[in-house]
Amino acid sequence: MGLLMLDEVDSTNTYAREHCDELEDGTLVVARRQTAGRGRRGRSWISPPGVNFTGSVLFKRLNDGFHAGCLLGVAALALIRELAPELPVYLKWPNDLYIEDRKLAGILCESARIENGRITAVAAGIGINVNLPPETLRSIDQPATSLLAETKREFNLDFFSKKLAETVNRYYIIYLNNAGTVIQEWVAANLLAGESLTVIDPRGEAHTGIFRRILEDGSMLFEEKGAPIAFTCGDVKIDRDSVDWNRLKQKASNHYKQPKE
Ligand code: BTN
Repeated sequence: MGLLMLDEVDSTNTYAREHCDELEDGTLVVARRQTAGRGRRGRSWISPPGVNFTGSVLFKRLNDGFHAGCLLGVAALALIRELAPELPVYLKWPNDLYIEDRKLAGILCESARIENGRITAVAAGIGINVNLPPETLRSIDQPATSLLAETKREFNLDFFSKKLAETVNRYYIIYLNNAGTVIQEWVAANLLAGESLTVIDPRGEAHTGIFRRILEDGSMLFEEKGAPIAFTCGDVKIDRDSVDWNRLKQKASNHYKQPKE
């Protein structure tokens, strides 16, 4: 398990996939600048060089993106809670980190190696808005935030990368001993369960209703006009006025009071 710092690369996910055989299991590949960063659902991920965190973990003992996303999501959340415990950060299904209705980070998981038709390694990439200043955040077409904007503190990206590599490593070991512990932590950190939301399905159709809970396979159980629907993928849109933010903050503070193993 290690940390590889690159100055410039097209995408750290692509790098991890293309160097899967040489890289050690659990390596975090970090880039100061990505020239073709990718987001979910074919979107691009644009991030000014040296300001934010962009990196990917190569998991050679995982064989699906869902588990890789849970693992990286809870590790990133734990690190942010350690560095900025005052922030009510939570996971937004399927794979984002949010503060209220503002996006702080996004995760993209892709297969890194396929052998005999089976996935034998996964690249899990994460882009985290670390030192993006408020004036740049305002020019983004969706509500977004950064650690700098929330805490008024700058974070050292080298230190951040080292800490993330260590935290992912710690969670990877926990996962390999007992995957259920990490999945439960991921489910518990999805604090929007119970709230009214809109889900855009893969065909682009909007569904407005209540996020009931997360099912065993990681899909979202949703209720639209009294009828249950299970989403395996989709985009969750938060209507700022439909969520009780005080209740959510309370849930966040209760969540982090729970003792961790
Ligand atoms: C999303 O929210 O759409 C997911 C964004 C994932 C971005 C990260 S940045 C590091 C890694 N390399 C990429 O090309 N994408 C991911």
